[in-house]
Amino acid sequence: MLIFITMNKKEIISKAEEFVKEKMKNYDPGHDWSHVERVRNLAGIINSDLRADPFILDLAAILHDSADSKFPGGTRYDEIVNFLESSGQSAITARLINVIRNISFSNKNPEGDLNDPVYLVLQDADRLDAIGAIGVARAFSYGSYRKNKLYEPGDEHGGKPGTTIHHFYDKLLKLTELMNTEEGRRLAEERHRFLEKFLQQFYKEWNS
Ligand code: ADP
Ligand code: NI
Repeated sequence: MLIFITMNKKEIISKAEEFVKEKMKNYDPGHDWSHVERVRNLAGIINSDLRADPFILDLAAILHDSADSKFPGGTRYDEIVNFLESSGQSAITARLINVIRNISFSNKNPEGDLNDPVYLVLQDADRLDAIGAIGVARAFSYGSYRKNKLYEPGDEHGGKPGTTIHHFYDKLLKLTELMNTEEGRRLAEERHRFLEKFLQQFYKEWNS
């Protein structure tokens, strides 16, 4: 019986991997399958005390960016619901949709259960991948996908949104303070210092 349940979960995970890989094919390189893999890995590290159910957490990590409206081909929530229900996961569908909907920084009105450990851990993992060296690479990847300028003098004092460096001030430099878990914050600190160092060097070169 135990073996059956384990195999079943494995099967659902590989079905979800296939479902998401297809959806994310047209996303930018900062939101590709490797982002999902890094987030899964980081979520596992943050969840070392297993406060969140590892199966639900992994499934949520796999699905978390599959309904991104920024990209063509991003799925709709009802497709995720269908996928989960047809995989026999009706019991956790509402919970997963709640996590995925609320995880985004751009969602200014999160609602539902915001104390779900799956949500708290996964949001931290997603935020960690937005900062540090990988965060810098992802920001410029998305900025170039949108054809945004790298920088406009004045970005560091407010300026107008629209450049990638401006995005550091709009979002990336705020993430460490917003971490939900202690482990997430601990991991964020080194990455945050790297963002500051990167900006310092960027301005030094720009102004030389
Ligand atoms: P969330 O899922 O938290 O709303 P997004 O999917 O909007 O986050 O952003 C994920 C990553 O995409 C960011 O961490 C950043 O790397 C990049 N990104 C989003 N918006 C911008 C932007 N305007 N300029 C540069 N990078 C961006
Ligand atoms: Ni993400």
